[in-house]
Amino acid sequence: PQDSGRYGRQEELGSLHGIPLYKCFVEGWPQVEDFQARPDDLLIATYPKSGTTWLSEILDMIYHDGDVEKCRRDAIFNRVPFLEMKVPEMLTPCPAGVELLEKTPSPRLVKTHLPIQLLPTSFWDKNCKVIYMARNPKDVVISYYYFYQMAKIHPDPGTLNEFLETFMAAGVGLAYGSWYEHVRGWWEKKQEKQLLYLFYEDMKKDPQQEVQKILRFLGKEVAEGTVARILHHTSFQEMRKNPAANYETMPTAFMDHSLSPFLRKGISGDWKNHFTVAQNERFDRHYREHMEGSDLHFQMEV
Ligand code: A3P
Repeated sequence: PQDSGRYGRQEELGSLHGIPLYKCFVEGWPQVEDFQARPDDLLIATYPKSGTTWLSEILDMIYHDGDVEKCRRDAIFNRVPFLEMKVPEMLTPCPAGVELLEKTPSPRLVKTHLPIQLLPTSFWDKNCKVIYMARNPKDVVISYYYFYQMAKIHPDPGTLNEFLETFMAAGVGLAYGSWYEHVRGWWEKKQEKQLLYLFYEDMKKDPQQEVQKILRFLGKEVAEGTVARILHHTSFQEMRKNPAANYETMPTAFMDHSLSPFLRKGISGDWKNHFTVAQNERFDRHYREHMEGSDLHFQMEV
């Protein structure tokens, strides 16, 4: 595979203000911190593996009035630039997220996985709208486990049991740090900002209703037929075979889809095929402890 000599699995993560993160992203941070948002930027914020790509494709379709051909113009990671992304040399030519964003005409869609406290302040200063999507942590950890295997920027996740411990401990081995702090931090910001908080499980259950929610939030109106086209084009089956949405155009040395496809299963509740009874009990206890006092609730039984 191309670039394999120059790029192998990373041994460990770096740290950004106490949040474990890919070393190359940490190196690129000064540029990200000073990022200048534009008032009409729409920020798509998620903890990894929570449906970012799905939400991005939906929004690009909305922004292009359901024109499928326009949404095939480029790979999703170029259409919706990843704010904090910085990959040295190995993906040449692969501009950093900030460089790509500077060249992107308004209105821009911007993707980030940053925890709320690290978001560049310019987004708040410019009063940008934000859509956050959260997913139940049991499905996130399973999806992340497979992603760690296929995307070599991650350290080896070990066994699933080991990775469950990594996820719960949220220590140096977990890129983007604690899921709990992430979902809770963004949830609390909802009170004071223009922030729409969505759930992967709701999107699975009733995508039409969720797309309507997004349209209301954006103050956009589209024809009935356009909504139908958006739903069809952004279904798991369609996205999975769409090279502009499924990440298959990434070099194999960076993402190896033969280990696990980026669009893997696309269902709610896959954790049930992976957790043992003991792991589930331990995870439930940990979840209860870390969500205590919050009015944020996740649907695990879907
Ligand atoms: P699974 O690994 O459980 O299949 P992200 O884009 O944040 O990295 O999230 C990736 C997860 O979202 C993967 O979950 C992927 O399959 C799922 N996903 C992507 N597009 C989807 C779609 N159209 N419908 C449902 N799930 C989707």
